[in-house]
Amino acid sequence: MIEMQSDVQDILREGVERTDAALERLLPPVSQTPASIHKAMRHSVFAGGKRLRPVLAMEAAWMIAAVRGGSGLPDGIEELGAAIEMLHTYSLIHDDLPALDDDDLRRGKPTCHVAFGEAIAILAGDALQTLAYQTLARMRCSADRRVEMIRLIADATGTIEGMIGGQVLDLEGEHTKPTAEMVLAIHRAKTGALIRVSIVTGGIYAGADVEDAARLEKFGRKAGLAFQIVDDILDVTQDSQHLGKTAGKDVASDKATWPAVFGIETARRDANRLIAEAFAVLEPWGDAAGSLKAVARYLVERTH
Ligand code: IPE
Ligand code: IPE
Ligand code: MG
Ligand code: MG
Ligand code: MG
Repeated sequence: MIEMQSDVQDILREGVERTDAALERLLPPVSQTPASIHKAMRHSVFAGGKRLRPVLAMEAAWMIAAVRGGSGLPDGIEELGAAIEMLHTYSLIHDDLPALDDDDLRRGKPTCHVAFGEAIAILAGDALQTLAYQTLARMRCSADRRVEMIRLIADATGTIEGMIGGQVLDLEGEHTKPTAEMVLAIHRAKTGALIRVSIVTGGIYAGADVEDAARLEKFGRKAGLAFQIVDDILDVTQDSQHLGKTAGKDVASDKATWPAVFGIETARRDANRLIAEAFAVLEPWGDAAGSLKAVARYLVERTH
């Protein structure tokens, strides 16, 4: 257990380093005109995120490469992770805006709109989305795979069962009595979809065939839902300093969360059950799935 823990810490540390180096290269410098937006983009991107989506993409890529007889990470995979992290950070900047969750703390720092004003924060989110697709368009793989990955990522962040659609359901679900179906639809879309697509596109980048991609998708669905259930639990059980974002916000805003519908104990049990089911999906890949499993376990065992 202790060994597994240190393994996962190493995986996460390396994932953060690789992702941060790619982001450093890809984001315009603060000296670039117009400086205000580049400062704002960098403020939010480099505020200290866990980089879980890039790590999941890398571990899925590593596993697919390994079962296909390759070794190590496919060249250029960190650019996929960086692009996904840009999309994730854009979603956080907008999630924190006064018109959405109205938060002033993110990743332990003042939120983008608090530091730079609302107009620049909105534009910084938009700009990160644009830069993500500029980055994806240049990915070093066949054009067929590139287009497929861009299509999947655009779908996962769009309005139909994607991130934006989920955010709309989340906002419209405030101050209603949430049902199980409703919270499932919100979580799958607002957070699950981007986690799932990180895993699937990591695999595709490394050469996954249709069957591999379908299995990764099934795994990613379960892991993505478990991730958001844990996000909801931590909002109730941790403090703001530890989380680096305002704790207790979901109850204060009367959000449709897993604990609100099922209670904390069932939420914990559901997250653990989903991860066990997700592990079962990886069975055919045997030992090659070890690191991906370790990261998936971290998704539910994390405390921030
Ligand atoms: C937080 O995501 C926002 C949700 C989608 C629930 P993370 O917990 O991955 O946040 P960072 O990237 O580490 O800040
Ligand atoms: C955010 O969900 C999901 C997206 C940013 C798409 P939350 O509103 O629960 O995320 P936190 O808790 O503010 O990080
Ligand atoms: Mg929100
Ligand atoms: Mg929020
Ligand atoms: Mg939350």
